[in-house]
Amino acid sequence: MPTIQYTGRPGVLDLSWGHPHPDALPVDGWAAATGAALRELGWRALTYGHEAGPVELAQWLCERLAVTDARAPVPAEVFVTAGASHALELLSTQLVEPGDVVLVDAPTYHLALRVLADRRAELVGVPPDPETFGETVTRLRRAGRRVALYYLVPTFGNPTGASLAGDRRRALPAVADRLGVTVVEDDTYRELAYDGPAPPSLWALSGGAGVVRIGSFAKSVAPGLRLGWLTGPPALVTALAGRGYVDSGGGVNHTAAVAMAAFGRSGAFARHVASAVERYRAQRDALVAALGAAGVLSPVPAGGWFVWLAAPGASALLPAAEAAGVSFVPGRRFFAGGGPDDHLRLSFSMLGPADLAEAAGRLAPLLRAASPPPS
Ligand SMILES: Cc1ncc(COP(=O)(O)O)c(C=O)c1O
Repeated sequence: MPTIQYTGRPGVLDLSWGHPHPDALPVDGWAAATGAALRELGWRALTYGHEAGPVELAQWLCERLAVTDARAPVPAEVFVTAGASHALELLSTQLVEPGDVVLVDAPTYHLALRVLADRRAELVGVPPDPETFGETVTRLRRAGRRVALYYLVPTFGNPTGASLAGDRRRALPAVADRLGVTVVEDDTYRELAYDGPAPPSLWALSGGAGVVRIGSFAKSVAPGLRLGWLTGPPALVTALAGRGYVDSGGGVNHTAAVAMAAFGRSGAFARHVASAVERYRAQRDALVAALGAAGVLSPVPAGGWFVWLAAPGASALLPAAEAAGVSFVPGRRFFAGGGPDDHLRLSFSMLGPADLAEAAGRLAPLLRAASPPPS
């Protein structure tokens, strides 16, 4: 049994994994934060934690979101989780019954599709256009279906790197609230904004009405912490805190949560995120520039970890790409039930600028051959 999830393949520059660059993980800073939490809280850092998460973390997170978002939650609106995936799992056990329809953006984070499918729901892809969304909900209800929630990543999305436009950010939650469908906003990449601040969350713009936002420290600090959070109505926080397994085990991942509070309150989080943003911006720029120099036009994501490239027949391209020493994820995997085979996702998070430039050089001839310029 290995220690970590990632398995490299010799000779392959792997742009398929959304994992951090090893040098971006704050090994010493985290050791200091854990020590500080243990010194400050003593045995309280190691016993069962408060059901919704320790007040120290909830308060600091509220202060941080006052800086990075348009509205700060209050601690009663915060529930600490074991990562964004766990937040989604929790919400789906709370909101989804087997046989329900769960609406998802198209494309969207492929592993969220798996979490939602575990509830034996039927996943239906719908783009975050308020009108199409509203029509889809109405059509499904007329057919006697229950629509449990709508999941999307509207800020520096996975896989597209794009953010939902301002008018839709306001209109979509309003339509969802009117129809009584909960929007689950995955806000995992908010801290990784490269060209100015991240847009306000749907949760903030809607005043919290009908939106539950999930977040994570996986990308801003380290995925191994298994630490995330959600912001939602106090009644939902109370309901989650009352679940049997929380009653039995106390707050989720309490010792990491109090260490995270110490990391945040000492200023280490803000310093760490600032340097991570520098690093990932440089990696983004290296990949986009190398693709451009090799004749492949790429979107420039303003945040997050991904570039979404047009690539007809992307699935069939993968074996040839791997033979040339570069890997990616074919775009159809990001659609419920499979989607068009015309895009691929590149992650620029795990490799440094030189490797990314080399990877682009290996991939570009295949992409150019797949999309010959119009004659
Ligand atoms: C949009 C999105 N949500 C959630 C996750 C997973 O977050 P966590 O590690 O906190 O479960 C990822 C990781 O790739 C992601 O891209």
